[in-house]
Amino acid sequence: MSNTQRIRKAVFPVAGLGTRFLPATKTVPKEMMPIVDRPLIQYAVDEAIDAGCDTLIFVTNRYKHSVADYFDKAYELEQKLEKAGKTKQLELVREVLPPHVRAVFVTQAEALGLGHAVLCAKPIVGDEPFAVILPDDLIWNRNGPSALKQMADLAESSGNSVIAVEDVPHEMTGSYGIVDVASFDERHGRIDAIVEKPKPEDAPSDLAVVGRYILDSRIFDLLENQKPGAGGEIQLTDAIAELLKIKDVEAYRFFGTRFDCGSHLGLIEAIIRFALDNESLTEGARDAMVRALDELGVQER
Ligand code: UTP
Repeated sequence: MSNTQRIRKAVFPVAGLGTRFLPATKTVPKEMMPIVDRPLIQYAVDEAIDAGCDTLIFVTNRYKHSVADYFDKAYELEQKLEKAGKTKQLELVREVLPPHVRAVFVTQAEALGLGHAVLCAKPIVGDEPFAVILPDDLIWNRNGPSALKQMADLAESSGNSVIAVEDVPHEMTGSYGIVDVASFDERHGRIDAIVEKPKPEDAPSDLAVVGRYILDSRIFDLLENQKPGAGGEIQLTDAIAELLKIKDVEAYRFFGTRFDCGSHLGLIEAIIRFALDNESLTEGARDAMVRALDELGVQER
């Protein structure tokens, strides 16, 4: 990746089965679940646009028409809102995707893993560094630049690939990809090794990979040659471990809070946080929570 290359393309792998949210995900893709009034995918898209991306590549499957429908123009709805003079709502519908941004959809025919989903974007990404965002990792940096913007700034100045990491409790390393970084200067450092889901006693650090990546396009060749790894899936982590041998990859500890919206508690926490932060909902949300705690007899710790 040359030092001056901008990150223009973002890949959203959204072809997973979302089994943790069954039965809802029988028909509603996980990425379409709302945090108050915006689906998870909208937060991810806004983050990519904030980072300067203008080409958004959604890797979907045949059950996820609603993701494409969401970003399509809704002529009938817009006409009705216009007629009814609902200008604020009309704006909300139109703002889903700004005019300078294009959305491209590719299909992952079979859910063969995250690495395989990223590989499906190869023909559209081509030969330039690109971002990958997992929408179920919602990252909120209230008054500052988005996590991906912070990473794009770093990648664009260093020319390196960049992977978002966060500190996790030591006993949780088995749920994440964990990086080994020889020197880490508070925010970032070169990755020496990456291990998928190590037991705490084998983990080289407590720095866990979360769903934001800026990758050199050579990752595609590595993915093409990747054998199925953990769970029989083509793992992105395995290809990154190969990339480390030919290219500097930095771990970046972002400013912001991550909500793991692929899990029940993460989704609930994100909804609570965004509701409390929304002026028109703050009081009502707080009262509802107090009432629920009282009525269910849940004690404060
Ligand atoms: P997860 O590991 O969260 O899997 O995938 P999942 O299927 O979405 O959810 P659960 O665990 O069954 O509840 C991480 C990301 O990789 C995408 C998912 O859509 C999610 O954004 N993915 C995973 C694909 O696009 N294709 C795959 O084959 C696997």
